[in-house]
Amino acid sequence: MNDFIYRGNELYCEEVSLADLAKKVGTPFYAYSAATLRNHFKAFDQAFAEVPHVICFAVKANSNLAVLNLFAKEGGGADIVSGGELFRALKAGVDPKKIVYAGVGKKREEIEAALKAGVMMFNIESVQEMEAINDVAGSLGVKAPVALRVNPDVDPKTHPYVSTGLKKSKFGVPIDRAVEFYKAATDLPHIEVVGIHKHIGSQLTEVGPFVDALEKIVALVKDLRDSGINIKYLDVGGGLGITYKEEEPPHPRDLAAAIIPLVKDLGCTLVFEPGRVLVGNAGALVTKTLYLKKGEEKSFVVVDAAMNDLARPSLYGSYHECRPVQKRNGGRFMADVVGPICESGDFLAKDRDMEEPAPGDILAFMSAGAYGFTMSSNYNSRPRVAEILISKDRYFVIKERETLDDLIRGEHIPDNY
Ligand code: LLP
Repeated sequence: MNDFIYRGNELYCEEVSLADLAKKVGTPFYAYSAATLRNHFKAFDQAFAEVPHVICFAVKANSNLAVLNLFAKEGGGADIVSGGELFRALKAGVDPKKIVYAGVGKKREEIEAALKAGVMMFNIESVQEMEAINDVAGSLGVKAPVALRVNPDVDPKTHPYVSTGLKKSKFGVPIDRAVEFYKAATDLPHIEVVGIHKHIGSQLTEVGPFVDALEKIVALVKDLRDSGINIKYLDVGGGLGITYKEEEPPHPRDLAAAIIPLVKDLGCTLVFEPGRVLVGNAGALVTKTLYLKKGEEKSFVVVDAAMNDLARPSLYGSYHECRPVQKRNGGRFMADVVGPICESGDFLAKDRDMEEPAPGDILAFMSAGAYGFTMSSNYNSRPRVAEILISKDRYFVIKERETLDDLIRGEHIPDNY
């Protein structure tokens, strides 16, 4: 995260002072470093340089058009899960041939839009979905390129909400029935089997589960080939973790060293769907201190960002480092950092040993580039915050702060009801 650095007592993103930026654009806002985004993409890309591969950024982690465009310019594609994400990816200039489409509940109109765009493949999650895709493709007079998402029943050892590869999960088809499902797919006239997909979970901090899952998938690819079903694309999903606090996740190089030997003789193009590892530590949520409430039992720092802006702490109990944007080098205290929302679950940090801020002080919640803005909402009728991309000494408003009118757009009070 070395593009967010202190110069003296002031926190900078690249060459831009976050305190100055807060004065110019107001708070709260998400700040992203273009250099970090690029470096993360390149590190991943270079790690797998010796095998044919495509990096399809998981759009759900950060769907801003400018971020998608930055990765597209680096040669990346997109992993999408909805018609909305397809729309964004295309608008951002992502090559449709580098778009993979996953998700358990694709609707017919979404399938149609993806077929018309000419995506690389659909990652199919059930037999009924396969039939629906066959049907829609037939009505358009085309063949749909598909992979089956196979559930390898491997424990990713991560938070249960973001674990997806166990038997009890709603995702994918069970590995022991995969050959049968593939055979059914080849019988459908408007389906062309091109790949296989797996994704076992998010924020993985060890390579072990990746290797275990991939070994099972590689064995399956060989079985499928024995049955005459050719697999061109092996989509290994996303899930590589990042450091929020003390985690020591593998570098993409370590992941590459562990998995390339398993796949290099297979003759497949690898597809990756990294989300968090590309954007997480490239972003921070910058917020202003409104009030201090120092109590006997507990102290609270009330800031102008809240759980609707960054849901991860309340939703998963996630830790985001809280840094003063201008260090006071004063006393420390223990406090919860909370937002203005009217429920106790609204906190950004709990029992945090931190420098005691004063009202008006700007704070930065780090590692917020992934699943930050994308999971934000308008709860408590709070306009969504701005997103700012920083590149060297320049900054760009890549998403304007919502206005009050944005809050009620599309709402109507009916006449005579
Ligand atoms: N591919 C598929 C099919 C996925 O479902 C996901 C994430 C990814 C790729 C990207 O995973 P990543 O590389 O970012 O770990 N909101 C949660 C994370 C949910 C992840 C959902 N799927 C959080 O804030 O931690």
